[in-house]
Amino acid sequence: MNSGVSTAALAAAAVRPDIAGGNAEAVRVGVIGYGYWGPNIVRNLSALDRCDLVSVCDRNANALKRAQKTYPAVHLTTDFMEVLHSPDIDAVAIVTPVWTHFELAKAALLNGKHVFVEKPFTSTSAQAEQLIELASQKNLRIMVDHTFLFSGAVRKIKELVDNGTLGQLYYFDSTRVNLGLFQHDVSVLWDLAPHDLAIMDHIIREQPEAVVATGGNHFNDLADMAFITVYYPGNITAHINVNWLSPVKVRTTLIGGRDKMLVWNDLEPDEKIKVYDKGVEISNGQSVYDLLVSYRSGDVWGPKVDATEALKTELEYFVGCILDDKTPSNDGVAGLRVVRLLEAAEESLKDRGRIVTL
Ligand SMILES: NC(=O)c1ccc[n+]([C@@H]2O[C@H](COP(=O)([O-])OP(=O)(O)OC[C@H]3O[C@@H](n4cnc5c(N)ncnc54)[C@H](O)[C@@H]3O)[C@@H](O)[C@H]2O)c1
Repeated sequence: MNSGVSTAALAAAAVRPDIAGGNAEAVRVGVIGYGYWGPNIVRNLSALDRCDLVSVCDRNANALKRAQKTYPAVHLTTDFMEVLHSPDIDAVAIVTPVWTHFELAKAALLNGKHVFVEKPFTSTSAQAEQLIELASQKNLRIMVDHTFLFSGAVRKIKELVDNGTLGQLYYFDSTRVNLGLFQHDVSVLWDLAPHDLAIMDHIIREQPEAVVATGGNHFNDLADMAFITVYYPGNITAHINVNWLSPVKVRTTLIGGRDKMLVWNDLEPDEKIKVYDKGVEISNGQSVYDLLVSYRSGDVWGPKVDATEALKTELEYFVGCILDDKTPSNDGVAGLRVVRLLEAAEESLKDRGRIVTL
């Protein structure tokens, strides 16, 4: 596949000295891709204090017409090389289809630009590894857009898990189903599951041991429904259900711990998270048949969840990481962990649920 990036055209460029030295006041950003998701990135970047939105690029001239109406002062181009070669741009946001991420990100890094790239990071783990290596050689930042990690709900869940409120984790069980939107180039696994895999990875923070995936495709050779199970050490099981053939939209995650259990319903306008003081207590008898099981059913609590738009928080963090020379938590390495899980899930799915060890 060719995204149109000619390797010969790529010149190695130095990072702006004031950025490298931590003296710059704002990061100058160019955005490539103004389709469905790009406008959200552009809107948030344009409103940030420590960011100058310099350029928006889309090879589709109609997309640029839409951009021009809202951002008349921003430079517009159909040629991404203009963005990548511009001395007035420090960082590039890549908001194009998955199969173009690698070549565009590679070209951006070779031209000395920091990279904000959409999920999933790349189409293969080998590509992700190459980009991580290149960024490290050039002392540039990569951030992968795992948007949900910056939502108030996920930040609250992480706090509750990390401060021990839930106790020892038993399971993570996420459902992300709706009717469509069918993608032309990727399966539902590569389109929707990156969200849940990134959230799971962020919350569980263990190295997964194995993956099992099943699913089906009903219109072409790309799966339109998938059920993924990820096994972790410590008897933690994660399960993700993604489906483009659901009559209703569901965005619900259950997380069970020894001490508390929680339900996150992202479609709830208020009280997205409910924490249940419910659980099971076992007293061991002489044999397994003598297990004394008692059930605990206490209070239900709805913690306050910050309603700030996740993308605003994330892009503010991206700009801060560049100006303050910090490695983002959702860096290329975090993106690679998700791509590895996607590859393993795809391998298992093709083989009708064969267990794939990691
Ligand atoms: N983080 C999220 O919640 C979220 C949500 C939706 C989509 N995404 C991701 O965003 C990316 C884009 O998805 P989308 O739904 O916006 O796709 P889209 O097809 O609607 O838009 C992509 C745009 O990129 C343009 N484009 C493609 N190649 C180009 C190139 N070489 N130069 C210039 N322009 C180019 C296309 O013309 C198109 O307008 C995907 O990686 C997707 O997974 C993320």
